[in-house]
Amino acid sequence: MAIPYQITSLEQYHRDYKKSVEDPEGFWSNIASQFLWKKKWDNVLSWNFKEPNVKWFAGGKLNITENCLDRHIANLGDSPAIIWEPNDPNEATRTLTYSDLLFKVKQFSNVLKNNGVKKGDRVCIYMGMVPELAIAVLACARLGAIHSVVFGGFSAQSISDRLQDAQARFVITCDGAFRGNKEIPLKSVIDDALERCPFVERVIVLTRTKTPVSMIRNRDVWWEDEIRKVEQQGNPDFPAEEMDAEDMLFILYTSGSTGKPKGVVHTCAGYMVYTNYTFVNVFQYKPGNIHFCTADIGWITGHSYIVYGPLSAGATSLMFEGIPTWPDAGRFWDIVDKYKVNILYTAPTAIRSLMSYGTEPVLSRDLSSLKVLGTVGEPINEEAWHWYDEFVGKKKCPVVDTWWQTETAGIMISNLAGVTPSKPSFATLPLPGVQPALIDEKGKEIQGNGVSGNLCLKFPWPGMLRTTYGDHERCRLNYFATYDDLYFTGDGCLRDENGYYRITGRVDDVLNVSGHRIGTAEVENAINMHSGVVESAVVGYPHDIKGQGIYAYVICGQEPEDVELMRKDISSTVARIIGAIAKPDKIQFVRGLPKTRSGKIMRRILRKIAEGEMKNIGDTTTLLDPAVVEDIKNGKV
Ligand code: WTA
Repeated sequence: MAIPYQITSLEQYHRDYKKSVEDPEGFWSNIASQFLWKKKWDNVLSWNFKEPNVKWFAGGKLNITENCLDRHIANLGDSPAIIWEPNDPNEATRTLTYSDLLFKVKQFSNVLKNNGVKKGDRVCIYMGMVPELAIAVLACARLGAIHSVVFGGFSAQSISDRLQDAQARFVITCDGAFRGNKEIPLKSVIDDALERCPFVERVIVLTRTKTPVSMIRNRDVWWEDEIRKVEQQGNPDFPAEEMDAEDMLFILYTSGSTGKPKGVVHTCAGYMVYTNYTFVNVFQYKPGNIHFCTADIGWITGHSYIVYGPLSAGATSLMFEGIPTWPDAGRFWDIVDKYKVNILYTAPTAIRSLMSYGTEPVLSRDLSSLKVLGTVGEPINEEAWHWYDEFVGKKKCPVVDTWWQTETAGIMISNLAGVTPSKPSFATLPLPGVQPALIDEKGKEIQGNGVSGNLCLKFPWPGMLRTTYGDHERCRLNYFATYDDLYFTGDGCLRDENGYYRITGRVDDVLNVSGHRIGTAEVENAINMHSGVVESAVVGYPHDIKGQGIYAYVICGQEPEDVELMRKDISSTVARIIGAIAKPDKIQFVRGLPKTRSGKIMRRILRKIAEGEMKNIGDTTTLLDPAVVEDIKNGKV
């Protein structure tokens, strides 16, 4: 494989950044040329942000799995593609070389085909972090089916919403998943979800935990049995399906400020080019490096930096089934030590949580293999940044603070490890090809440095979302209608005197709890499902470990007799409707909510009170009943 495009000096960064703005098509076609195409593209880019309609590499034909697997076999066939560390450190680890992985992907592509899956079908994947999850994802891509991975922590209700939205007729799951000392009954959650989804024809179930499960005749089949059938067929080859550059690769549901989660759509060529480019450049990947991204494949970070980015670069991707604090808070560091990890990519929440156990766990392990550290998912506070830099990286590893979103597919604003400068709590500079803009309240771009505004992007990049599944208008309204000719990220941002960007957090009604995106409206809808609840309002508040916690103000029909029990009931309702990740951290029962005369809830006031700010809560004269504010203040939990 040719050496990929890699920026190796600050001068080159500035030079190439300029080039990428002056001649974006030249810049991206140069990078795209490094890949294996079945047919070269006719047109690098056509776009407008009005509809929006964005096409990259139109006319090109390819399959992403040939780029992630087949093309590496000649040189890297025997080198590890995926190393898997199980939840239980005493269980055997697994290593899949590139040849092993390609073989298993072809095998499972045959399983999908035998079960009736065709190009363009949507396949929902609800599994724990086992290598078969990556195999299932890649097999869909090889066959041309559109995968929609749902994080293993989501509830049956959330799964059925997603299945219905995507009209997925196929589900791939496990009997259960291990997470720390817990066993999560994935198949039984799927069974509940499918009660509302009669259109699902086939469920393929991998054995992992040996949790007893019910297998429904004519619908459910075992992964292992299906593999045996393919073996009996003599393991036929499975040539990669020819895909158009702009064919859908996957759907990933994510929360927005309103209603139900939306299915962000990514397409084959742009996604491949963008995840590869960002992986190689931000982490400064060198052949042979062991890359450990601690995310779950249920989130975009796992899609882009466990599966597609690293594999397209021929890297070794370490996949971990468990959690950072089990059996003890040294687990990450044991893994780094055991596999001689070179690149570690994790979330600020994990760092803050590990910090709270002190330095003994981290100082007692050998971390000398580490070369690059990364963070993602939420703003990192300076204290956590310094702890990471000092105790994990021993001040010898550049820390990259990477800002991006499900919608962007890959990293957008970040320092390049060791190549461009870092600044604690700053994502710093945009990658070449990325054109950020800060916008003021009137929709005008704010020029110059030492300013802040709403973060937008002025120009398309190959990894940008193309639509929201089944509802293009929703995509337009959400991202392209706030400001003319701009993609609006939903984030607030400042640009310092040196032009470095610092993301300050969401400016819409989206919370970021432990790096997970959760819509306030979603949580409110879930709380309101409880029969005793009349109305609720949810806001975020600063949380030492999670970054943001969920604070719910709830009006009940009758004053609860047992307040604690009612809180627990509401929490379980939320867990049942969305999943445990969306449980409120604090619930305050109130008699009324601060509303304007037109009935709009003044969240600004609720946010202040949740933050503990009792004095400067701003103007309350426009409220229908200003007295509720005093009541709420007095009852703060
Ligand atoms: C936030 C995760 C500050 C931001 C890849 C964004 C960050 C949302 C950073 C996307 C960062 C992500 N610094 N904030 N380095 N990275 N965010 O879709 O608010 O799960 O809009 O994608 O996380 O979350 P998502």
